[in-house]
Amino acid sequence: MTLRALAPSGVPFSLGDIVQGLLAAVDGERSMTRFRDQVAARFGKRHVRFFSSGRGAVSAGLSALHARFPARDEVVIPAYTSFSVASAVVHAGLKVRLYDVDPETLGPVPESLERALGDRSLCLMVCHLFGCPADMDMAREMAGRYGVPLFDDAAQAMGAAWKGKQAGTFGDIGLFSLSRGKNISAVDGGILVTDEDWLAEGLDALAPPAPSMRGKVKLWLTALALCVLMHPRLYWIPNSLPFLKLGESHFDPDFGVTALTPFQAGLGMRMLRRLDRINAGRGSVAVQWMNVLNGRKFPSLPEGSDSVWLRLPLLDSGPGDVMKEYGVVRSYPTGLHEIEALRPHLAGDGTYPGAERLARSLVTLPTQGYVTGQDIEHVARAMGGGAV
Ligand SMILES: Cc1ncc(COP(=O)(O)O)c(C=O)c1O
Repeated sequence: MTLRALAPSGVPFSLGDIVQGLLAAVDGERSMTRFRDQVAARFGKRHVRFFSSGRGAVSAGLSALHARFPARDEVVIPAYTSFSVASAVVHAGLKVRLYDVDPETLGPVPESLERALGDRSLCLMVCHLFGCPADMDMAREMAGRYGVPLFDDAAQAMGAAWKGKQAGTFGDIGLFSLSRGKNISAVDGGILVTDEDWLAEGLDALAPPAPSMRGKVKLWLTALALCVLMHPRLYWIPNSLPFLKLGESHFDPDFGVTALTPFQAGLGMRMLRRLDRINAGRGSVAVQWMNVLNGRKFPSLPEGSDSVWLRLPLLDSGPGDVMKEYGVVRSYPTGLHEIEALRPHLAGDGTYPGAERLARSLVTLPTQGYVTGQDIEHVARAMGGGAV
């Protein structure tokens, strides 16, 4: 067992962050308002709503859309994405309609997307996977052509941009996640942004309850654990506990939704201030990986996309490339169409070769702040490649 281990993703909290969170908890509602104003200013959106998780936010957003368009019950989502997205659709009592993902760019395949859209589409969701922005001109054109609202899922891409405009700000409603493996974190959390008054009102009607005292204490303790255990000298501890299921994606529509807490708003405010610095750090680690593994295959991003490389996808991996102790892990194990428990909730059928190829051949390389040049060289050597 090695005593150095890297998390595949994540942002460590400092003790200062936790103190700030506790002070915000004392400040209560005022902290929530301040965080809301900061998010609104950063993303240029009039309405901001918080939830205990990204999937809770997606479910609420979909329910608000469905209240407005009750005859539409299909949510059009990529066949290769976080299982949480499908979980949220089913949580909201809706059907999943899939489109395929291009295995080179990770964005939607236009023909497949067009086949998925129709009279029953409640919205088109686009996910900017691993921080890589999808072609939003195409997505907007397609959503407009079919008169379908656009749900811009930037859970993995806070701070990324498409042609200079931030991911999450396209379309009718946008999502950011504050869970522990995301661009910035508040232990957990989801943010919806919109300029539509009717959507904001719909979301207010669905406002979730505050968490229990037990839930709040759990958040404080998890923040402390993340502060200590994400360090490479200690990460082997959570990494060797299989019941924590770190980094695994699960289909589980049976989740609870509560409000974000002022403690989390305090963490979120600290992190939002560091977002650009964190993203720049990830970007430079990604460049180092690409230089060292220069014969290997990475996403070819369309012109105009400015990725934040939450993790760096390696597209031509084999089984020997997975190195869990160095945070080099497979991402989603299958396409969503291959999840047995999701089958009853799927609308229509189709083939998704791009999603299948990505599930088979994609691993992600860590770009989080603890990755060193030595780690990169070590992994590259073990992969037998690159200019080491
Ligand atoms: C693309 C995408 N959307 C939504 C979510 C849900 O976010 P959360 O983990 O905060 O529930 C995730 C989580 O991984 C995600 O990757």
